[in-house]
Amino acid sequence: TQRLVIAVDGPAAAGKGTLARSLAEALGLPYLDTGLLYRATGRRMIDAGHDPATAPAEEFAATVGMEDLRRTDLRVPEVDRAASLVAAQPAVRRVLVDVQRRFAGAHGAVLDGRDIGTVIFPDAQVKLYITASARTRAERRWEQMATDLNAPDRAAQIAQVEREIAARDAADSVRATAPLRPADDAVHIETDHLDAAAVLAEALRIVALKT
Ligand code: C5P
Repeated sequence: TQRLVIAVDGPAAAGKGTLARSLAEALGLPYLDTGLLYRATGRRMIDAGHDPATAPAEEFAATVGMEDLRRTDLRVPEVDRAASLVAAQPAVRRVLVDVQRRFAGAHGAVLDGRDIGTVIFPDAQVKLYITASARTRAERRWEQMATDLNAPDRAAQIAQVEREIAARDAADSVRATAPLRPADDAVHIETDHLDAAAVLAEALRIVALKT
């Protein structure tokens, strides 16, 4: 049988990771969170004292390996920003293309990111584009991070997360190289009113139709 590659793209905090992980498990495929490659690159730059907004990041991207992706300090706000900044550098993206293509190897994979269906695997059999409103995404991200779900300044905290998400989406969408956009043949899933199980069910239905 032909190897199955499933591309899961969309803006920040839309639920791509949750879906891609459960889809991979349901289908017995390897899973790669490609955002971690950009996060690990940004992390290495910060650790080395470089400004990810201005310094070339290619040499850092070139040394990122699978073991970097297990670091626990990749999902903090400064690395959110650093990842988005280094991801706009064409040389960084060039280096990371090979890592992603090799990951799917002979056995196929589920990959989530921004450009999987448009650039990394334009021939993927299944392309999903996962979206939700900026407010919904901010609420979900905040609930994952919050230490106190009843914090008195809950609304202000969520508004702050929403601003950060919107800034990152804007940067990811306007960059010249591999901007965030749905592939022409991607199937969109809008998740505002769906829980994780419903999104998975919808995705499995699409996979069955396409394979
Ligand atoms: O998905 P995640 O939020 O972890 O990605 C962090 C950043 O990495 C994104 O804001 C984006 O700039 C970049 N990225 C990318 N292409 C991908 C995955 C992530 O440019 N395929």
